[in-house]
Amino acid sequence: METNAPKRKEARKSLRIKVISMGNAEVGKSCIIKRYCEKRFVPKYLATIGIDYGVTKVQVRDRDIKVNIFDMAGHPFFYEVRNEFYKDTQGVILVYDVGQKESFDALDAWLAEMKQELGPHGNMDNIVFVVCANKIDCTKHRSVDESEGRLWAESRGFLYFETSAQTGEGINEMFQTFYSAIIDLCDNGGKRPPSSMGVGFTKEQADAIRRIRNSKDSWDMLGVKPGATRDEVNKAYRKLAVLLHPDKCVAPGSEDAFKAVVNARTALLKNIK
Ligand code: GTP
Ligand code: MG
Repeated sequence: METNAPKRKEARKSLRIKVISMGNAEVGKSCIIKRYCEKRFVPKYLATIGIDYGVTKVQVRDRDIKVNIFDMAGHPFFYEVRNEFYKDTQGVILVYDVGQKESFDALDAWLAEMKQELGPHGNMDNIVFVVCANKIDCTKHRSVDESEGRLWAESRGFLYFETSAQTGEGINEMFQTFYSAIIDLCDNGGKRPPSSMGVGFTKEQADAIRRIRNSKDSWDMLGVKPGATRDEVNKAYRKLAVLLHPDKCVAPGSEDAFKAVVNARTALLKNIK
């Protein structure tokens, strides 16, 4: 009896999981995985052909995990190869390049591709997603700022990390948190625990921040027609100020959005009699 006890304990603790990487070509998916598994960085671009498969053993908290990583090619050409690998996945590493806005805009299409391949019975709610805003070492060319990326990720209940496969920044932390969330998922019978679902802000707040960020002028920002009266401007302002006040709103980017709304109101009122 006694000699069997440690073995049983070990078997209970070890876990096998499947993880895939997704995102446009050249955003750094393979380099992120290489940085974590091999502690090195390759500056030369070697496009993944179809899928790269690897197994790695990691220890997270007190658990041994055997991770099957399917590193996908981002190029559209490889769609036919990729599409078979979406099923039975516990974790997705979704990567974009902070200097390439198109790669950020493409994240929705990646989710759509996965959803389509999983079919009508596939459930994406019980998969852990981590978004990597990669290449943060290239500060000169940054075109997607942190709050924009974080808002996209967190409003979907996804984890978000700023990473650099080149310097290693954020990589270990990202993988540790990602694997830890997958352990919680597995311990919860393969379902995302309710505690990880709440985002702390509403869709209305997230939509307002996005709309403000993309607005073309102060009228547009407050959501009033050009030529609106003082009353209309003040009314629109008050509504947004209540929604986005930094004391009440924790959505990424709310502070900047709130400031922008205050400035827009001031600018408009100056010119309205
Ligand atoms: P596909 O396999 O074609 O889908 O591309 P991928 O997303 O796997 O990209 P990969 O990891 O091969 O990296 C593409 C290029 O970006 C390579 O030249 C890398 O050296 C470079 N790269 C990746 N990560 C970083 C980073 O964090 N910083 C910088 N400066 N370059 C990076
Ligand atoms: Mg690759």
